[in-house]
Amino acid sequence: MKMALVGFGNVGKAVAEVMLEKRELLQKVGFEPTVVAVFERDGSWIDEKGLKLQEILSKGNSSPSWVEGAMAEERIADLDCDLVVEMTVTNIDDGEPGLTHIREALENGKDVVTSNKGPLVLAFPELMDIAEKRDRILLYEATVGGAIPVFHVAREALLVNNIISITGILNGTSNYILTKMTEEKVSFNAALREAQEKGYAEADPTYDIEGIDAASKLVILANGILKMKKIINDVRIEGITRITPEMTELAMEDGYLVKHIGYVDRNRIEIMPRLIPRSSPLAVGGTLNVISLKTDVAQDITLIGRGAGPRETASAVLGDALYINKIRKENK
Ligand SMILES: NC(=O)c1ccc[n+]([C@@H]2O[C@H](COP(=O)([O-])OP(=O)(O)OC[C@H]3O[C@@H](n4cnc5c(N)ncnc54)[C@H](OP(=O)(O)O)[C@@H]3O)[C@@H](O)[C@H]2O)c1
Repeated sequence: MKMALVGFGNVGKAVAEVMLEKRELLQKVGFEPTVVAVFERDGSWIDEKGLKLQEILSKGNSSPSWVEGAMAEERIADLDCDLVVEMTVTNIDDGEPGLTHIREALENGKDVVTSNKGPLVLAFPELMDIAEKRDRILLYEATVGGAIPVFHVAREALLVNNIISITGILNGTSNYILTKMTEEKVSFNAALREAQEKGYAEADPTYDIEGIDAASKLVILANGILKMKKIINDVRIEGITRITPEMTELAMEDGYLVKHIGYVDRNRIEIMPRLIPRSSPLAVGGTLNVISLKTDVAQDITLIGRGAGPRETASAVLGDALYINKIRKENK
């Protein structure tokens, strides 16, 4: 399998590192890709015979394979490769540059794995249509819940089930803030400041605390698992900025926690602060994410894990790549 990486930031580099670290194990399961291109914002490393990931990681653009100004959007269409892994920065305003990368790859006969929510939030049905028409696979495990393999579980392990609804905590930053407020009785602003100091929250935390990031993930869950055709404007969104320490304390006294809960079923799609029993499997603390699937045969299946982190995300990205490799080998 020939593979291209698009976006070589935290996640892109972690994917390369884990591929090197796990080379033997990957070989054993028949995953021995030749990485023919790695694209960055201002150029790329290209070698049809196969790049040395170790050299790229250590030498950066002083490596001999570096081609200044060679951009993914111009190169992907004609690139001789089977799988494009899209890991550029998320943009939920117009989806770019990821949307163009994914469209170009699928249109030109390449399977795609992405960790980038933007293109899926804005164009899920269109991208799935292109994939179907071109007989290509588009997988996006890393876009929701970081390391949590929820799409894989739904697609493979729960195949016999009808999935009725999905409930979850989909943003680690807002969960961290609510956990701090509950455990240490601090104000929203103090908890947010601490999240920023620890690097969990962006300088502009709007998307996290207003529920936009979680709503984006809910849209991907709704479309990917419940086969709906939702867009972000369909989601009823309420952030956590109005939660006070008094509210979290009162909730605690009654055996509840205030959590920012995403929920979707056939009739409802929303993200809002909710009271969750302290004994509920959804009552996870800190930056953890949790996703619970209500199904007709297995009943409730709940997955808890790290919602972010380059290595954790690389686990999901490579899980998708391995799955595509397996399917393509079986179909040969
Ligand atoms: N980090 C996580 O824990 C995590 C978890 C789940 C999902 N994700 C998603 O995974 C993606 C990557 O995250 P990240 O943390 O690795 O972000 P990042 O460190 O900002 O990496 C993104 C990379 O894409 C590059 N880039 C920008 N425009 C490009 C273009 N046109 N062509 C090729 N490369 C381009 C950026 O270059 P510059 O640095 O020059 O801009 C940067 O190196 C994002 O969509 C993110 O939302 C991340």
